[in-house]
Amino acid sequence: MKAAVLNAPKTPLSIEELTIDEPIAGEALVRVVAAGVCHSDLHFIEGTYPGRLPMVLGHEVAGVVEKVGPGVTHVKAGDRVIMGFVQPCGHCKYCDAGRPNLCQTRTTARAADRPILKRGDQAVSGMAGTAGFAQQSVMPATGLVQVPDGIGLDVAALVGCSVMTGYGAVVNTAKVEPGSTVAVIGAGGVGLNIIQAARLAGASRIIAVDMVEAKLGVAKQFGATDTVNAGDTDPVKKVQELTGGGADFTFEAIGLKVTAEQAYAMAGRGGTAVIVGMIPPMDQISISGMIWMQEKTLKGSYYGSARFHTDMPRIFDLYRQGKLNIEGLVTKRFPLEGINEAFDLLRSGAVSRSVLEIGAE
Ligand SMILES: NC(=O)c1ccc[n+]([C@@H]2O[C@H](COP(=O)([O-])OP(=O)(O)OC[C@H]3O[C@@H](n4cnc5c(N)ncnc54)[C@H](O)[C@@H]3O)[C@@H](O)[C@H]2O)c1
Ligand SMILES: [Zn+2]
Ligand SMILES: [Zn+2]
Repeated sequence: MKAAVLNAPKTPLSIEELTIDEPIAGEALVRVVAAGVCHSDLHFIEGTYPGRLPMVLGHEVAGVVEKVGPGVTHVKAGDRVIMGFVQPCGHCKYCDAGRPNLCQTRTTARAADRPILKRGDQAVSGMAGTAGFAQQSVMPATGLVQVPDGIGLDVAALVGCSVMTGYGAVVNTAKVEPGSTVAVIGAGGVGLNIIQAARLAGASRIIAVDMVEAKLGVAKQFGATDTVNAGDTDPVKKVQELTGGGADFTFEAIGLKVTAEQAYAMAGRGGTAVIVGMIPPMDQISISGMIWMQEKTLKGSYYGSARFHTDMPRIFDLYRQGKLNIEGLVTKRFPLEGINEAFDLLRSGAVSRSVLEIGAE
């Protein structure tokens, strides 16, 4: 089967023929239909996050189950599914506490000498268990969530990362309250979902910060009440001015130390700053020692603190009711072969999201 392979950091992905193993106990083989191109994939290409190369990226994915391994009961061949990029075990302390996004327990007994993907004799690793920039994926089945009939797999793919991450950061991680003020730094695929979830949560003011003017226009369509171009305006001062001292909730949705510090600084007394962007692991974020007196909170948000089988069906319902806009996130569509062009557009800030149409439904 064909897959897009990252062979070295900062190089284009190459479309190659790989072999894929049969699913073992607890795994499923999924035929990939659609995959979103997320900035998290780009971090691996740029080398800001390390990966075991060669590697197949892709973690915002939907497809159709072709086959399941022994012991898999909640999905079967023919089911339309999202591939969660965390595959929770269901019985560790995190799963037990309703925080399955934090689960790190392995759910299958796949041996190191039996890789899922190979190029000739060489093992090829896969991102986040999903490895979705390929025609097929074999992954731990606990990560699979059913897609209701009537919802396209292109839309469903985006629920697999950007929609869940943005919606969940607002609703689960931050618990934004009606009437509160919100600032969002970065109006890309994730940031737009933070904006539309903040609108749903009843925020009175939603300030979008970006450096690309066109992104700020899109942010308004998704619910931003105010916009700030950080290219010509100090975003911290501006947010403080617009909110009378600082926002109740702020979100960093880019992945930079500088904007994480801005997010903290633009939260007001008693406010909460949520870091969603993948800040490079060695970068240190510095904040004022006055945190104690200001009673501010600095929090991370991973996968929108998702409870997969609760939140994803809810997101589909909100989409069907017209309360979440998912189609509007898709700026461009490409075949798998167009993947490098899709990453060039993401780098340049020209798209909200690109979707790869990899297979037919
Ligand atoms: N926490 C999670 O679980 C999770 C999940 C998905 C993605 N992410 C991360 O979220 C971040 C955003 O992902 P995305 O796919 O939306 O990215 P994106 O590239 O689509 O969006 C980033 C936006 O930030 C803007 N920007 C860049 N530098 C800026 C600056 N200095 N000031 C203001 N705006 C600036 C860009 O114009 C762009 O609109 C990435 O770091 C990604 O890895 C985290
Ligand atoms: Zn992602
Ligand atoms: Zn677990």
